[in-house]
Amino acid sequence: MSEIDNKYKLLQFPDLGDERGNLVVVEGGMQIPFDIKRIFYIYGSDDSVVRGQHANLKSEFVLINVAGTSKVKVDDGKETGVIELNQPRMGVYLPKMLWKEMYDFSPDSVLLVLSNEHYDGNEYIRDYNEYLKIIGKK
Ligand code: TYD
Repeated sequence: MSEIDNKYKLLQFPDLGDERGNLVVVEGGMQIPFDIKRIFYIYGSDDSVVRGQHANLKSEFVLINVAGTSKVKVDDGKETGVIELNQPRMGVYLPKMLWKEMYDFSPDSVLLVLSNEHYDGNEYIRDYNEYLKIIGKK
């Protein structure tokens, strides 16, 4: 296991389902390690698309592929890691100040994203060189 694997956290959510089907619950401060202020979801992307490509000064995220699959590449300026989101009970927690990219979306991918912050475009670092400067790697 390399250093980068300590910078994110894989989450496994309990299934409260029964013979009627599956039911997965996530609550802020419980399965999700922050109070949830924002929810958005991404669908209709495919395997030619790369999303994200930013780091955040304040926002933390949990990503869950509630349908389909996608991959998340994380980069701390030193190392990269790849997480495959491939089941609806799995999530990944990404702290602030981690560079991330989402890609390789299956056609049926619905990527649900939870965050601890409301949207503020000013806390997004969208330039990789600027990111490296801010974290002191350049
Ligand atoms: P963008 O950050 O490029 O999405 P992703 O990181 O998934 O590739 O966002 C696309 C547009 O949507 C951009 O104009 C900003 C806007 N946006 C909001 O207004 N609120 C939000 O919570 C998010 C995630 C994006």
